[in-house]
Amino acid sequence: MELTKKQERMLEGEDGQAVEYFMNLLVKLGDLFGADRMVPVRSVQVAGVSFSSIGEPGMEWLEDMVEMGARVKSLTYLNPAGMDLENWKEMGIPPDFAEKQLRIIDAYRNMGIVVTATCTPYLAGNLPRFREHIAWAESSAVSFSNSVLGARTNREGGPSALGAAVCGFTPHHGLHCWENRQPTKIINVETEMETDSDYGALGYFVGEDVSDGIPYFKGLKNPSTDNLKSLGAAMAASGAVALYHVEGMTPEADLVETRGLESVTVGRPELTDIYEKKNTGEEADILIFGCPHASLAEIAQLSDLVKGKTLKKPVWICASRMIKEAAIRMGYVDILEKAGGKVVADTCCVVSPIEKLGYSTTGMNSGKAAFYLPGKRKQKVLFNDMASLVSEVIQ
Ligand code: F3S
Repeated sequence: MELTKKQERMLEGEDGQAVEYFMNLLVKLGDLFGADRMVPVRSVQVAGVSFSSIGEPGMEWLEDMVEMGARVKSLTYLNPAGMDLENWKEMGIPPDFAEKQLRIIDAYRNMGIVVTATCTPYLAGNLPRFREHIAWAESSAVSFSNSVLGARTNREGGPSALGAAVCGFTPHHGLHCWENRQPTKIINVETEMETDSDYGALGYFVGEDVSDGIPYFKGLKNPSTDNLKSLGAAMAASGAVALYHVEGMTPEADLVETRGLESVTVGRPELTDIYEKKNTGEEADILIFGCPHASLAEIAQLSDLVKGKTLKKPVWICASRMIKEAAIRMGYVDILEKAGGKVVADTCCVVSPIEKLGYSTTGMNSGKAAFYLPGKRKQKVLFNDMASLVSEVIQ
């Protein structure tokens, strides 16, 4: 990989031990993946935040990085943590877990990272532009930024994203290069898509079908950004899709080559199969929405559904702290809390230890959560649209 004189000096330690450490990591990764050079990044999203994901070794490694002098150069946000950083006691999180989680957050804060723990940084003030090179880690955020925003990122690991933030560069390969952003298969959608869960089911089907390919959707009619975040998250879970195009809607769709591609048609029977396959539970102990982290519109939708009602089961909607603050101002949080629900910030159902909080069957409208909850959190699943799930728990 060709380095500038400045980058060579960084590699030799001119900017301190931490920069030297991470430059070495980035150069090794770049050489491994055939990168030709480094590209500057102004936007980073780091994964490896929940104590339940990284444990004591990860926590101590982060503290060592702080000791070594790691400080970020780019606007850097965090992936969700294992708990609401302010209201963890109300969530029922054990104090020993909370203490370790807060040590991890302190380490990131000491590196200059914005303590916004979310997988939707684009809804919370970290919004790259079309064709901007970035280094993001969480798979649904990677998919959204590549596909809907037209920014360019590979799916970074926690250390490589942190390295990009500390050095201000990422290796130029993979989805940073135009030739690697071409679609590999056309997906003809021949059914009305009504809810976010329909987009989750579609994403689930297509992720399994194309694996790590790049789907090109035809037939989607005016999906919302919430629909697209649900679609991308599910494809990144059941497959490893980091980029997709939607005819007439996403920014690169008119620029890529689709001639000669094989295609598949997805109709209502395929979506029904996914719903049936994922529904393994009978009665939910809890409903959790906000995977990926909810927009203000999704919180408004939930608050409308529960307004003036009483919930007989816990209902959470997970969101970034910024979106929660806006929801407080709009009165949505108050409506939800009066009904018995919660807006949970900073965390989500997959990275929070919900099985330890006594839940064994979770209802959700997310294809991604439906994929991960059985394995990661030992949950049976009810996968359906928000309104249907809520109607089952209203008294
Ligand atoms: Fe985000 Fe957690 Fe879902 S990180 S995409 S809410 S699994």
